[in-house]
Amino acid sequence: MSTILAIESSCDETAAAVCKDGVMLSNVIATQKIHEQYGGVVPELASRAHMQNIVPVVDVALKNAQIEMNQIDAVAFTQAPGLIGALIVGAQFAKSLSLALQKPLIAVHHMQAHVLANLIDTNKPKFPFLCLTVSGGHTQIVQCDSPLEMKVIGQTIDDAAGEAFDKTAKILGLPYPGGPLIDKYAKEGNPDRYKFPEPQIKDLDFSFSGLKTSILYFLNNAGAASHYKEEFVVSAEARQKFIDENLPDICASVQSRIISILMNKLIKASKQTGIKEVCIAGGVSANSGLRNAIQEIGSKQGWNTYIPKFEYCTDNAAMIAITGHYKYLAGEFTSLHTSPSARSEW
Ligand code: KG4
Ligand code: ZN
Repeated sequence: MSTILAIESSCDETAAAVCKDGVMLSNVIATQKIHEQYGGVVPELASRAHMQNIVPVVDVALKNAQIEMNQIDAVAFTQAPGLIGALIVGAQFAKSLSLALQKPLIAVHHMQAHVLANLIDTNKPKFPFLCLTVSGGHTQIVQCDSPLEMKVIGQTIDDAAGEAFDKTAKILGLPYPGGPLIDKYAKEGNPDRYKFPEPQIKDLDFSFSGLKTSILYFLNNAGAASHYKEEFVVSAEARQKFIDENLPDICASVQSRIISILMNKLIKASKQTGIKEVCIAGGVSANSGLRNAIQEIGSKQGWNTYIPKFEYCTDNAAMIAITGHYKYLAGEFTSLHTSPSARSEW
């Protein structure tokens, strides 16, 4: 029997969740709206907002779960990767609680937790499975052999898929985070209207920085046939008029290319490993086009596909809690001397 309180504070969501024997009792998220006006997450403001939010968020998580503080068996927290100031707030809070309650502390890797979000619901993938983890900071194909044994078999060499969405949105003049907005406009657009190039990257790795540049040139040329050349730049008015008139088709075409880049590597990974249990995870797995694509392509490829519930895709503490649960079962505790890390190694 284990009741885990989990805390996530790696970026701009302050989140807490309670899980009992692997069953989620509560999952609370306070999204920091303050960053919208800056077009991206401001680390210093994120840390301050975590400081303000963490006590009420944990309070609500415990209340929703109908669990008293003294019923907790362990405290799990996101140790890495993320914004260091943001991570420190969650880590210090978790350490203090662990010390006060005299209960073990569990350090969780944020990317491992995104993968294990697939184990929260009853329809769980069987081991070994592949997980395409796509977030604002990462794009990885992970082979997962057991809850605590996983390896990255492919990853981006430059931008993450979420960055490709967010940077495209920024170029189009849409607010941060742009991914959900591109998703929304794409639903009304024609994905075959514009063809953006697919990068030729070796093995199971990805690249998205070239796509961003080609979109920039394309818009600077107002969609002219020579849209990959830098020199045919139109006026700012003509560029804006082109965006205003064609936004849904531009979003649908960009989204379709990002999805095909991701899916082609996932197909390759499945062929190479022979694994047909396939999941997605991370903020970009909330994208409706990607959710449809994995199901459609999965049925053609003979895969069993799994998609976490929407609230378990973007940053949340339920995924930290489920990882904490498996670490608790394995007795993987950490000392109070542990420190958070901004870096990604695992
Ligand atoms: O996993 P996540 O919440 O935070 C990180 O760990 O980075 O992922 C955030 C990313 C952002 O880039 C955001 O634009 C993207 O996920 N995202 C989406 C959608 N919802 C969130 N991208 C495309 N379509 C969406 N519906
Ligand atoms: Zn994340």
